[in-house]
Amino acid sequence: MVRAAWLIYGAIYRGLLCRLPEPTAVSLGQLVLRLVPLDRLSLFRAEDPRLNITLGGVRLPNPLILSSMYYELTILRRAMGLGFGAVTTKTITLRPRPGHPEPNLVRVETDRGPGLINCNGFKNPGLEAYRLALPTLPHRVPLIVSVAGESAEEYVALVEALAGFADLVELNISSPNTTLVYQWSQTPRALGPLFKAVRDATDKPVIVKVSPDFSETNERAIIPLALDHGIRIINHGNARRVTEPRLSQGAGGLSGPELFPQTLETVRRLRARFGDQLELIATGGIDAPDKALQVLAAGATACGYFTGFVTRGPILAKLILAELLREVTRRGLTRLDELRGSKGPS
Ligand SMILES: Cc1cc2nc3c(=O)[nH]c(=O)nc-3n(C[C@H](O)[C@H](O)[C@H](O)COP(=O)(O)O)c2cc1C
Repeated sequence: MVRAAWLIYGAIYRGLLCRLPEPTAVSLGQLVLRLVPLDRLSLFRAEDPRLNITLGGVRLPNPLILSSMYYELTILRRAMGLGFGAVTTKTITLRPRPGHPEPNLVRVETDRGPGLINCNGFKNPGLEAYRLALPTLPHRVPLIVSVAGESAEEYVALVEALAGFADLVELNISSPNTTLVYQWSQTPRALGPLFKAVRDATDKPVIVKVSPDFSETNERAIIPLALDHGIRIINHGNARRVTEPRLSQGAGGLSGPELFPQTLETVRRLRARFGDQLELIATGGIDAPDKALQVLAAGATACGYFTGFVTRGPILAKLILAELLREVTRRGLTRLDELRGSKGPS
């Protein structure tokens, strides 16, 4: 059944979605997610206590996180039943944003497989509308609310208003499509006051999402600053900034399998450098079970993906979880956590 779902989605993706213009394919995909109650089918989930992890003290049924992209509550609710251990909202800003004009998303075929380049520009309904809507979302699995602003005060206002409806809060300081957010990663000194103000504003666990474009700065300045201010969870990371003449902004964020080698290498390096001080979410190019296994074995606490959800379909989470359970059984482990820092899949 799982194999059939994998093959059917592959055929739909290549035979239909890839042939449609990107905006049509995106709308169609979201329409299906909205209308078809896929989350009612147990096919997409794998429930086993050995897969449980904790992130910032919050229990997740498994380490897979749907990375930030959707804000619609219907879609987030569905995603919570599609195998993920936690689901992240689109990055929410103080005021509503229409996003950048189309074309704002294009597909790319790379040697490593299918990816995306987007210049979405934080299309979202804004704080006030989201604050009113969010309490109606049941938390079938933990919810991570992502926020971004142009000043420490904006982050604090967002966190104060939304953290109460979240299990964890993610500070996006790294999206490559909005100059004022991307700049946070280029001016790490300004992040100290921001981290302090946010830490003081909520008791919820806080995640900092960093950019793969600033590896050296992340390691030397941003992560130590986060730790100094009591923020222990790092999500590495966001999309990588690239030039793309097909997009309205002439550039965008590359996501998908091209990012994976850097994601894996970074997890190894950060774990070796910061040890158990950090909880690490590995995001970037995870679109197959062996990749999830590799980052977890390299030291990631959890792993996030978005592009794989589109290119491989909603069955990907189940395939990954089945593989993780096989590995846990094969090694005679009692919990997935014991895999961390092992030699990895053999
Ligand atoms: C269309 C699109 C929109 C995205 N929007 C956001 C966003 O609002 N906030 C954010 O932190 N990341 C956003 N991302 C980045 C993803 O959450 C993820 O970090 C990145 O794509 C790398 O993971 P992947 O290779 O699994 O997609 C977006 C990615 C895509 C493709």
